[in-house]
Amino acid sequence: RPAAAQAASSLTFAELSGKPSPRHAVAAGYRADILIRWGDPVVAGASAFDVHNLTAAAQDRQFGYNNDFLAYMPLPPGSASSEHGLLVVNHEYTNTGFMWPGITRDTVLEKMTRERVEVELAAHGLSVVEVRRTGGTWAVVADSPLSRRVPMTTPFRIAGPAAGHKRLQTNADPAGTRVLGTLNNCAGGKTPWGTTLHGEENFHNYFSGDAPADSEAGARKRYGVGTSGRGYAWWGRQIDRFNLAKEPNEPNRFGWVVELDPYDPTSTPVKRTALGRFKHEGATAIVNKDGRVVLYSGDDERGEYIYRFITARRFDPANRAANMSLLDDGVLSVARFDADGTLRWLRLVHGEGPLTAANGFDSQADVLIEARRAADLLGATRMDRPEDVEPDPVTGVVYAALTNNAERKDSEINPANPRAANVHGHILAMMPPGGRGKDADHAADVFTWTIPILAGDPSKPEQGAKYHPGTSPGGWFSAPDNVAFDSQGRLWIATDTGSNWSKYGIPDGLFACDVDGPAAYLTRRFFACPLGAEMCGPEFTPDNKTLFVAVQHPGVDGLPGSSFDTPATRWPDFKDDMPPRPSVVVITKEDGGMIGS
Ligand code: FEO
Ligand code: CA
Ligand code: CA
Ligand code: CA
Repeated sequence: RPAAAQAASSLTFAELSGKPSPRHAVAAGYRADILIRWGDPVVAGASAFDVHNLTAAAQDRQFGYNNDFLAYMPLPPGSASSEHGLLVVNHEYTNTGFMWPGITRDTVLEKMTRERVEVELAAHGLSVVEVRRTGGTWAVVADSPLSRRVPMTTPFRIAGPAAGHKRLQTNADPAGTRVLGTLNNCAGGKTPWGTTLHGEENFHNYFSGDAPADSEAGARKRYGVGTSGRGYAWWGRQIDRFNLAKEPNEPNRFGWVVELDPYDPTSTPVKRTALGRFKHEGATAIVNKDGRVVLYSGDDERGEYIYRFITARRFDPANRAANMSLLDDGVLSVARFDADGTLRWLRLVHGEGPLTAANGFDSQADVLIEARRAADLLGATRMDRPEDVEPDPVTGVVYAALTNNAERKDSEINPANPRAANVHGHILAMMPPGGRGKDADHAADVFTWTIPILAGDPSKPEQGAKYHPGTSPGGWFSAPDNVAFDSQGRLWIATDTGSNWSKYGIPDGLFACDVDGPAAYLTRRFFACPLGAEMCGPEFTPDNKTLFVAVQHPGVDGLPGSSFDTPATRWPDFKDDMPPRPSVVVITKEDGGMIGS
C-alpha cells in the first residue's frame, strides 16, 4: 500500500531522506543555489560586507538578517514574468550571538552598545531586491534603482480606525499617525493589486524599562510587553522609544499588518490598523467571488486565535489607486471551532455583543488595539500557535499551520487542538461553503473544518501523529510554519522546530503533498535546511519553474553553540572567520521543468 500510494502522488521528485547536515540538500535533479545572504549589497552604493566592522550606515543598504517571508513580484508590474521581478523579503529578527564575537547571555548587557543596537535595528525590516534569470541562472541585479531597504529608520504611515488614536500617540509622534520602522516581520502575503503584506509578530521582545502604572497596564500584560529578561531587553536601555518608562505607548504602534508598494521605491509603507493588533504571523489575501477581498491571519502565540478580515469595498482590477485604501475599512472576525465540524466567524465590531464601553471598548480603535481581549470576550477557540493561514487558490480550502504548543494541558484540549503537550503541531483545513476554487464563499459566517495532518514521528505511536498511511520514513515533519501552493494547488509546508532539530533527529525543511486524490496529504521531503536553520518563505514564480526559499538562523544549537566562534555550521560560506549567514536559496529543476513535477 505505501508504494502504491507513493506512486499515486502527482509529485514525482525523489524524496530526500532528511538527515541533519551542515549543508542544505534538495531532491535529486534540482539545483539549489545561494541567491543573497545577510550583508550582501541591496541598494545602489552599498558597501561590501565586513563582518568584523558592522555599521548601521552599511547595514542600511545591505541585505538584512533572518530572511523569512518572500514575495516574488513580477516585472514589469502587472505582468506574469517568471524571469524578472522583485523579491520582497522580511527580516524577522537578529541573532546577536552570531553578529558579534564574544557575546554570551551573561555579557550581552555590557557588550551591546548603542552602536551595536543600531546595527541590529538596521538588520531588521524589509528588503526589496530586483532579481533576473539569465541563461537559466538567477542573480540579483546590482545597483538597481528599484531595490530598497526598509530598516527601522523608515517612516511609516498609520492608517485605519486606530490611526491618530491617543493610545498611539508618543512624544516623538504627538499625532499618532507616523511611526519609524517595522519589527519582527515573520510571514506575509500579496494583494491582488500588487502590494505586499508583512506581519509584525513578536514585537513585545524589544521593549523594556519600568512602565508607568497607567491604563495600558492590562494591554501590555496581555501582549507580553515588558516581561523581564526576554529577548532584546537591552534595547530599552539604549533607545528611548523602546524604554517603557519614556514612551509607554510605543508598543501600541507595533503588532499590525504592514502594506508595502514594492514597485515604488519611494512609497511610504502603511500600518493597516483595521486588521487588528496581535502577533501577526502574516496576512494572506484572496478575492472573494463577490469582489470583496478576504484576508486571513494567525496570532502566533500559545492559545491565541485565527482571524479573518473582509473589506467593505470591492476590488477593482482597473483602479489600483482605489485598491490602495481597501484595507482601511472592513470587518475583522475571529474563529470558533465547534465539535460538530463547523467554524463560526465572530465579528469584532465595536458596540456589538460584549465589545462596549462597559468592557473598556470606547471605539473600534480600542477593539483593534486590544483585539486579543475582544476575541476572548467573544469566546474564540484557543489554538496551538497559528502560523501561516492561507487559502489554496485552486481548491479554495484555507490551511492553517498550528506549529506546536507544548504547554497545552489535558484539561485544555479542544476539538481543533486535540493533543495535550502538542510538541509537533498540526495542519488545519477550513472549508468555505459554496464550492471549490472561485465558487468558495470566503465571506460566509460559517465554514467547516478538519485536521488532515497531526505532525510528529508516525513510527512512535505515543506521539499520536496522523499522516497518509503511505508516508515514507522520511516524509514526516514537526512544527509546520509557512505554507505555500504551487500552480496545481498542491500544499508545500515549511517547518520550524527551533532548537529541537537535534532532539528529533531531522532537519527543518520543505515538504509537499497533493490535497486531492489517492495521495492526498501524503507528505514528501523536498528540501533539507543546514544544521540549526528554520525553513521559511517558500515562493513560486508564476510558471512554477522557480522556487525561492529562505534559510533562517542557520547554525543555531542553543547557547553557547549559537556563538560567532562555535556555530553548528558556517553555512553558506564555510569560512573560519565568517559566521553562518541567513540566505535566500533559489531552486530550479535541472531539466527546466516545473518544481515538484
Ligand atoms: Fe516567526 Fe510564527 O514564526
Ligand atoms: Ca513563522
Ligand atoms: Ca505562505
Ligand atoms: Ca515559527
